[in-house]
Amino acid sequence: MRRARLIAHIKYDTVSSRAESSAMEPLRLRRIQDLDLQGKRVLVRVDYNVPLHTGKVMDATRVQKTIPTLEHLLKANARIVLISHLGRPNGKSQKACSLAPVVPCLQALLNRPVHFLPDCLGEETLQRVLRLKPGEIVLLENLRFYPEEEKNAPQFAKRLSQYGEVFIQEAFGTLHRAHASTVGIPKYLGGAIGFLVQKELQFLDRTLNAPERPFLAIVGGVKVSDKIQVIRKMIERVDTLIIGGAMSYTFLESQGVSIGESPCEKDQLDLAQDIVQQTYSKGIQCLLPADHLIAESTRPDAKTKVAESMAIPPGWIGVDIGPHSIQLFSEEIAAAKTIFWNGPLGIFEIPSFAQGTLSVAKAIAEAADQGAISIVGGGDSLAAVRQAGVQERITHCSTGGGASLELLEGKALPGLAALAQVKA
Ligand code: 3PG
Repeated sequence: MRRARLIAHIKYDTVSSRAESSAMEPLRLRRIQDLDLQGKRVLVRVDYNVPLHTGKVMDATRVQKTIPTLEHLLKANARIVLISHLGRPNGKSQKACSLAPVVPCLQALLNRPVHFLPDCLGEETLQRVLRLKPGEIVLLENLRFYPEEEKNAPQFAKRLSQYGEVFIQEAFGTLHRAHASTVGIPKYLGGAIGFLVQKELQFLDRTLNAPERPFLAIVGGVKVSDKIQVIRKMIERVDTLIIGGAMSYTFLESQGVSIGESPCEKDQLDLAQDIVQQTYSKGIQCLLPADHLIAESTRPDAKTKVAESMAIPPGWIGVDIGPHSIQLFSEEIAAAKTIFWNGPLGIFEIPSFAQGTLSVAKAIAEAADQGAISIVGGGDSLAAVRQAGVQERITHCSTGGGASLELLEGKALPGLAALAQVKA
């Protein structure tokens, strides 16, 4: 008999976690729909940090998700100035980090012209912005071409704030950065949050703090150290925690299960053990993979087989969850009313190791079809959701990587705190 459940399920008293207040709620943020925007010049910080390949946007999700805010502004005949970063150009102008490729993508989504200004500073840019007509949109070049952006230099923020009469913060993915365009501009212009930021906060903050139960969290990915704070927060709230992906081998080893040549973060073993102990004392069901797909190496053409138990034999590497785990995890997903997923369950970039991750994506979409609230965050899980073709069926796919993790860890996001502290 396979040892699927590491820890038996004990009924969990949910009162304390339900009573827990939302991390961002007390901030009382002003919303875009609360403002009179008629004909105003509106400066909008977006996060168009999108993947590019040969000058084309490879995934337009972050652009697409700002459309409701832009359409709202267009209805009000606003004059729109968009600012963003792309990549990490280290304070220097670099063609590979230009925002120019976003323009055709945005034009197609909005079905109207978008003008590109090749410098986010300078007299020419300022004059063009001041001459904007109602309903016109400009996108300025990458803010991070200037080191002052990441240094949050007050003069830089002040110059940017000249572009708008009103500031809208719509760059959810960047709210964890204390940069000029996130915390600097609100000092001069105040500001409100757009529809995308509102939606992210609704699902990642309010829903996960007061979830419909049973609440299941699935956390995967490579490193325990990257997710440890999120896991800690999750075990204050969930009924079931599934741990998969490369980090599950560290958890298995911490329980004395042999993991062959699979990756293990030796310095995280005590933490992993501590997490397991905590789930025990809180009476939460904690599930680790009950079986695995194992391979002789992580090369796409490596020989593979199924390890039918939690243990992995010497000489083999775990590359995905096994069929029994897929079935068990899918059953848990089907029974949940709220599902949060962050991090893949195997090396899904390699098609022969992708089945576990893609099956979980499909099971989550099926649960969402049946009325469960499903929330997916993190670049890899989102890529898996897209690969499985189920993106439209997920209740909320977060656009934030680091920002969503910090929010889930319960940290205050500087970009929001800045909006709450200043005049609006
Ligand atoms: C992201 O992709 O997570 C955001 O755009 C922030 O980018 P950064 O990690 O380079 O600050």
